[in-house]
Amino acid sequence: MPVDLTTRFTGLDFVNPFILASAPPTESKRKILKAFEAGWGGVVTKTIGLHPVENVAGPKTIYQRTSDVKPYVSRMKRPDTVSHSSWNWELISDQPLEQWLPDLEEIKTTYPDRMVIASIMAGAGGEVEMDNWRKLAQACVGVGCDALELNMSCPHMDRKDMGAHIANDEEIITGILQAVTSAVDVPIWVKLTPASSSVVDGAGAAYAAGASAISLCNTFPSLPLLDPETLKFEVEVDGLVTSGGLGGLAILNQALQRVSDISRAFPDQQISGIGGIRGFREAFNFIAHGAGNLQICTAAMEEKGSGGVGVKLIQELKDDLGEYLRRKGHSSIEEFRGIARERIVEHSKVRRKSDDYNGGYAESA
Ligand SMILES: Cc1cc2nc3c(=O)[nH]c(=O)nc-3n(C[C@H](O)[C@H](O)[C@H](O)COP(=O)(O)O)c2cc1C
Repeated sequence: MPVDLTTRFTGLDFVNPFILASAPPTESKRKILKAFEAGWGGVVTKTIGLHPVENVAGPKTIYQRTSDVKPYVSRMKRPDTVSHSSWNWELISDQPLEQWLPDLEEIKTTYPDRMVIASIMAGAGGEVEMDNWRKLAQACVGVGCDALELNMSCPHMDRKDMGAHIANDEEIITGILQAVTSAVDVPIWVKLTPASSSVVDGAGAAYAAGASAISLCNTFPSLPLLDPETLKFEVEVDGLVTSGGLGGLAILNQALQRVSDISRAFPDQQISGIGGIRGFREAFNFIAHGAGNLQICTAAMEEKGSGGVGVKLIQELKDDLGEYLRRKGHSSIEEFRGIARERIVEHSKVRRKSDDYNGGYAESA
């Protein structure tokens, strides 16, 4: 008997908890329709904005690999390598809102049982930008999007009032949420950057201002590698590069730690887990730390022959989750969601060989 993979998350019913993250796999109507045909439970669209977008005059994404024989990380093609990470410096969607709207409407009409979450981004420098958030939100909800994801985490913005720059500012987070929640009545997810030392405070501000979920993580700010022979960066334009975002397996452990921090601070709130998911084991770990929904990007992009939407991957994820639920006698992921929470403790709470360690203090506090 097939196992029921349906999951309720932020009040929405997902046919399965696996969705494509905001990125190239969700950048067009064609790809999203293909993803739904393959079985994904939902998509977060590539981020839609109103400001001008022009990408660099070179590759936007590279895939880094490593190997057992010579375990250095490089995009260079070598035999017997395995995936390490993606690195990208791609901006948000360059498709205008006016083109997105009919596409979103058609996608939702074609697949009414799949969840379409529109990722949107505007600035934070005054009322005009707050109006831009409202305009984007109302337009996407108006054509049937089930929820919104507010991008407060893009790592590639020069503008200081956009993307990852604002994720440290609880006042700005609150202001944007107030603007969006006053304009639309759908669940609002907020995507935060892992590059903030105050991600738990940012999440707290977002939840308090009406966010239904935190989506975490966006990519980690990082640089591509320099080749010692050619002295070229593995991706560059005219010899120049800038900080971009690392995704894929290499960020899994760090992403889990951020998700765990938020989940332990706000155990009754919802989290959509992202970062390095390639199969069921990684997805399981996010759920164990409290995530009720899983987003995937790099692994779907890397899959060969599927047009970059993870056709085989979603089948594997569904099969492996189904098999696990059946074998463990669980009726849904809710039965093991958050099971790791209480086992993450302060360093000094982990047993020592003697009894008198006080976490670096001379005496018990
Ligand atoms: C090429 C590329 C483009 C991306 N564009 C966006 C974007 O427009 N908006 C966004 O919120 N995240 C964007 N992301 C981040 C992904 O949604 C995701 O958070 C990140 O890649 C981590 O997931 P992964 O380890 O499964 O790749 C992008 C990632 C990549 C690799």
